[in-house]
Amino acid sequence: MTATPTLVIIPTYNELDNLPLIVGRIRQAAPEVDVLIVDDNSPDGTGDLADTMASEDEQLHVIHREGKGGLCGAYVAGFRWGLEHNYAVMCEMDADGSHAPEQLHTLLKAIDDGADLVIGSRYVPGGKVVNWPKKRYVLSRGGNLYISLALGAGLSDMTAGYRAYRREVIEALDLDELSNAGYIFQVDLAWRAVREGYDVREVPITFTEREIGESKLDGSFVGSSLAEVTKWGFAHRSEQAKEFFKETKKLVKHEVDKRRK
Ligand code: GDD
Ligand code: MN
Repeated sequence: MTATPTLVIIPTYNELDNLPLIVGRIRQAAPEVDVLIVDDNSPDGTGDLADTMASEDEQLHVIHREGKGGLCGAYVAGFRWGLEHNYAVMCEMDADGSHAPEQLHTLLKAIDDGADLVIGSRYVPGGKVVNWPKKRYVLSRGGNLYISLALGAGLSDMTAGYRAYRREVIEALDLDELSNAGYIFQVDLAWRAVREGYDVREVPITFTEREIGESKLDGSFVGSSLAEVTKWGFAHRSEQAKEFFKETKKLVKHEVDKRRK
């Protein structure tokens, strides 16, 4: 448990059945934290349910956005709200149960121990993915291997969406400049934090694929996202790194092919 004022930001789009479940689990596992739902005018009425729930729970807050504007924009709106309301720590969590509220304390413990940004990682020892189709696993694992080798940030799950940020990190990063495609803003945020010299740590989590509702993101952005990451890697490193990336690509391809078998 932590005494630090902590906000858990949960973006929602059509999560009507998941919303009461996730909020209930947070209340059980971490009664001290406040929760902010950022709903993008979900057609299924998630936003209305959130309002009703918030009217009976003073630790629950809701922001309504006009329409489906993407995960990055939803988090940026949530971070701004959290800064305005003076939270010392802000967390990212999915509404669909993939990020277990029961593991939130391991992220917050690392913050208490001095970390500035904590990433709940599927790919450090002890981390797990449950119920993902093989294809999705290979895409995510391969993508993260590529990102990790291209940037050399020393992190193994930079696309992960279960996180805790100290407010100073959010204040220091320019939220207007984030790349909005798919999950790449997650990489962007972590990479900026690393470059700013913040203490970025990973703790193992178990990511469980949703049982209710549908995923909102597909793999179509992967190619362009990895190209963007490669640019960041190049910008950061010297010209000689080119050879290294060529080798890296081969290595990742080899790893991915191996895992496909
Ligand atoms: N407000 C809002 N607007 N919420 C959204 C939007 C949007 O446009 N798109 C998705 N969400 C919400 C969903 O309702 C859910 O709570 C959460 O964002 C994650 O969406 P999913 O569709 O379940 O994403 P996922 O399971 O494919 O992706 C997860 O894993 C990725 C890495 O593999 C997320 O944790 C990502 O953040 C993570 O990068
Ligand atoms: Mn999901």
